[in-house]
Amino acid sequence: MSSKAVSSTVFRKLTLVTLVALTALIATGTWVRLSESGLGCTTWPACTTKDVIAPGTYHSLIEFTNRMTIVVIGILVVAVFVLSLLRPLRRKDLVLLSGGLLIGYVGEAVLGGITVLLKLAPPLVAAHLVLALILVADGTALHWRAGIDDSVVLQKKLPTLPRPMMLLSSIMMAAFWVIVVLGTIVTGTGPHSGKPGTPRFHLSLGGIMEVHAAVGLVLYGVAVSLFASLHAIHAAKDTARRAHVVVILLTLQGVFGYAVWFTKFSVIPSEVHTLGSALLLIALVRFRLGLYRHALSDEVPSEINDMSAERALASSVADTCS
Ligand code: HEM
Repeated sequence: MSSKAVSSTVFRKLTLVTLVALTALIATGTWVRLSESGLGCTTWPACTTKDVIAPGTYHSLIEFTNRMTIVVIGILVVAVFVLSLLRPLRRKDLVLLSGGLLIGYVGEAVLGGITVLLKLAPPLVAAHLVLALILVADGTALHWRAGIDDSVVLQKKLPTLPRPMMLLSSIMMAAFWVIVVLGTIVTGTGPHSGKPGTPRFHLSLGGIMEVHAAVGLVLYGVAVSLFASLHAIHAAKDTARRAHVVVILLTLQGVFGYAVWFTKFSVIPSEVHTLGSALLLIALVRFRLGLYRHALSDEVPSEINDMSAERALASSVADTCS
C-alpha cells in the first residue's frame, strides 16, 4: 500500500472515530440534562470554585465525565484538522469540513461554559444541542467525503434524481432542523430542561408539543413519499437503502417521542429520543450526499428520465395522502 493510500485510510478512520465520539457526546450531554447534573459542576472550566476535578458527588461526577468526553473530542478534532492539512493532496472540502468541526467545537465549549454560568437558561441549553447536532452533520459529511477518491472528487458533482425529488430531500432536511428547534423548545418548557428551580420558557407544554409532533408527521409524510417514488423509478439500491434507514429511524423517533409524552417525560425514552435525533441526522445527511455523483464536466446525468420520475413521484404522493 502506498503512503498516500495509508494516510487517506487513516484520515477516514479518524473521521469515523470523531463522528462516533460526537454522537456519544449527545448521549452523555443528554444524560447530564436528564439526571439534573447540569450544575453538578458549578463553574467552568474548574468543577467548583475549590476543586478543579469533580468532588465525588453523583451529579458532579456525571457532569465532569461529560466534560472529559469533551476533552477527548477536542483532541480528535484537532488531530483531524491537522491531518486534513497534512494529507498528500490537501483537499479544500476536507480542510473546510475539518476546520468547521474545530470552530464548532470551540463555540460549543464557550456556549457550554456560558450556559452553566447563566444557570441553564433554556435558550442556551437549546442552542447547545443544536450546535452539537450541527457538529454531527459536519462530521458525517466529513467522513463521507473522506471516502471519495481524490481523483474523482475534483470533478463535477451531479444530482442523480430529478429536480422534484431533490427538492423533497431538501424539504426533509429543512423540516428536520425546524423539528429540532421545536423539540428544544418543548424541552425548555417541560420538566427536563435542568433542575426544577432553573428557568423555563413560559409556553403551553401541550401546545408546543403538538406543533413539534405535527411537523414531525409532515416530515414523515415527505420521507415516505420520497421512499415510495424511489421504488417507483427503480432508484439505485444504495439510495433506496439509505432512504429505508431514514424512514425506520423516523418511525422510531416518533414512537419514542410519543413514549416521552405518554409516560409523562420518563427519562429513558427521552434519552433515546434525543440520541435518535443525532442518528436520524446522520442518516439524512448520508442520504442527501448519496444523491450526487462525481462526473466529468461534459457528462450529462443519464440514468434518470425526468418525466417518468416526476409522474412516479406524483402518483406516490397521491398514494401516501389517500
Ligand atoms: C419525527 C422527528 C422528531 C425529531 C427529529 C424530534 C427531535 C426532538 C429533539 C431534538 C428534542 C429536544 C431534545 C433535547 O432537548 O434534548 C425533542 C424533544 C421532544 N420531542 Fe421530539 N422529535 C421528533 C418527533 C416527535 C414526536 C412525533 C413526538 C410525539 C409526541 C415528540 C415528542 C417530544 C417530546 C415530548 C420532547 C421533550 C423531551 C424532554 O423534554 O425530555 N417528538 N424532539
